[in-house]
Amino acid sequence: MKKLLDVISEYVALAFRALELDEQYAQVVWSARPDLCEFQCNGSMALAKTAHKAPIMIAEEVASKLSEDRDSMFEEISAVKPGFLNFKLKKSFLASYLSEMQKNPRFGSDPVAAPKKIILDYGGPNVAKPLHVGHLRSAIIGESIKRILRYMGHEVTGDVHLGDWGLQMGLIITELSERKGDLPYFDPDYDGEYPKEPPFTIDELEEIYPTASAKSKEDEAYKERALAATHELQQGRRGYRAILSHILSLSVGDLKKNYEKLKVSFDLWKGESDADPYIADMVEMMKAKGLCYESEGALVVDVAEETDTKEIPPCMILKSDGASLYTTTDLATLVMRMQELSPDEVVYIVDKRQELHFVQVFRCAKKTGIVPESVSLEFIGFGTMNGKDGKPFKTRDGGVMLLSNLIKEIEDRMYERILEADPGTDPKSARETAEIVGLSALKYGDLSNQASKDYVFDIDRFTSSEGNTGPYLLYTIVRIKSILRKYAESGGSAQGTEIADATTESEKNLMLRLSGFNAMIENAAEEKAPHKICAFVYELCNAFNHFYHETKILAEEDQDKQKSYIRLLTLTRDVMLQCIDLLGFEAPEKM
Ligand code: ARG
Repeated sequence: MKKLLDVISEYVALAFRALELDEQYAQVVWSARPDLCEFQCNGSMALAKTAHKAPIMIAEEVASKLSEDRDSMFEEISAVKPGFLNFKLKKSFLASYLSEMQKNPRFGSDPVAAPKKIILDYGGPNVAKPLHVGHLRSAIIGESIKRILRYMGHEVTGDVHLGDWGLQMGLIITELSERKGDLPYFDPDYDGEYPKEPPFTIDELEEIYPTASAKSKEDEAYKERALAATHELQQGRRGYRAILSHILSLSVGDLKKNYEKLKVSFDLWKGESDADPYIADMVEMMKAKGLCYESEGALVVDVAEETDTKEIPPCMILKSDGASLYTTTDLATLVMRMQELSPDEVVYIVDKRQELHFVQVFRCAKKTGIVPESVSLEFIGFGTMNGKDGKPFKTRDGGVMLLSNLIKEIEDRMYERILEADPGTDPKSARETAEIVGLSALKYGDLSNQASKDYVFDIDRFTSSEGNTGPYLLYTIVRIKSILRKYAESGGSAQGTEIADATTESEKNLMLRLSGFNAMIENAAEEKAPHKICAFVYELCNAFNHFYHETKILAEEDQDKQKSYIRLLTLTRDVMLQCIDLLGFEAPEKM
């Protein structure tokens, strides 16, 4: 379905053409002054020079040309100094646009003409380390972007890209060897089968890593052993690989449970270690092309460019001992991704502090031909989630906040609020509602900010049912659901009714907001910007609530009018549900 602004612009362009004015200036936009008009065209200002006329004269000519049309789509057209054209849409035109939108299962949005194959790299948890809030943003933003791109028809593969090839693995192996050194994994001569069951539980594993990490900071020899173990793991030592498999099987199960709670999912559960088989050939290729050289023992590729305004250091491919680095696995992962999936685009949703790493990796991948020029590599860097003190979010006692605790805090706060609002609520159903609404508070609190910005995580604000919050959206949706339910229970049915002309300003405003869905979603997908959906659905909720407070709906006696209201409410609910689904949460039936 054509976007409303395009329909209007094309209509205005007819008048420009009739007056022999350049049509490209006929572009109509949403009004910057909703108190004065709904739409405006600013083209006269730009045209003034070439037309040798004052902008207001051009605007007046266009306005009078447009006024000649008896079937105009406008009910008001005015030329305003210095040269604006202001419009108000005819109610019947808007009503028919909405009726058409309602018949369309995508609410008037079209899938892209040329779908792309896109890999989204998000989540990025490190195995054996518990998920912390730093990984929360990647998961929340990535999941929403995945849903948006899929909705537009792109073929998207989400890959969690586990961190499972770095020093943390060597630390775990070292600590384990100190505790359980007589296990066969540590005997280099052992050539039998290793046990099927892991030699530790997930709880033990989660305790081993911080212990080992703390020890390595104090004990240089311990750290050396961990580095050596990491290297041996990477070189393929059998026993260590077997430990890695155990760690992976336990961790992945645990991570999946956590992500499920967040309604985040992945198509691929690959990790850095899956890139290992590609490293040797990749390094050979770089050597053969003469693109890498040795620097202080390490193998590097220059990636600086003449136009750089700050220094971009060479990209390290291998350490002096031959061990691989974060850049190595990311490059080899690209080799693997190109071979297995040949994507048109690879998009990384990672903390913006890693930007330099990705600049190096992208440049190196293009320079060495791992990724052809035609494939787009994109880094979406997100900001930090801070506490109210403006510093990175911590627990009350200053430790790193675990994701599972954070979710619990939000749910508990939500639960309290539900009982405060209605002390009679059955505790079990209050818990269930708190889970659903808590997730909206968490995700909306994050997604409503432009991803690159830091934001303050404020449980009280996020869980409030007033203001620009997830719970506010859900309250609004639940309100609409409840009206529709009551209407149906009283035997009403509005099936087949068309949406009628608005009879009040607030109704017209609601209709105008709804009509912007297709343009908004197209733009949100192009810019991979979930916050655009947030802004849209928040405005839509405001428009609805305004309409609702001014209008009797269930008590309306004129049945036709009531049916039209019901259709409008149904469309509003459906568009809102579509939006929150793209953001990655759901609405309860009751609240
Ligand atoms: N595991 C990394 C971290 O915790 C994030 C991984 C991001 N993705 C990537 N392909 N490098 O910082």
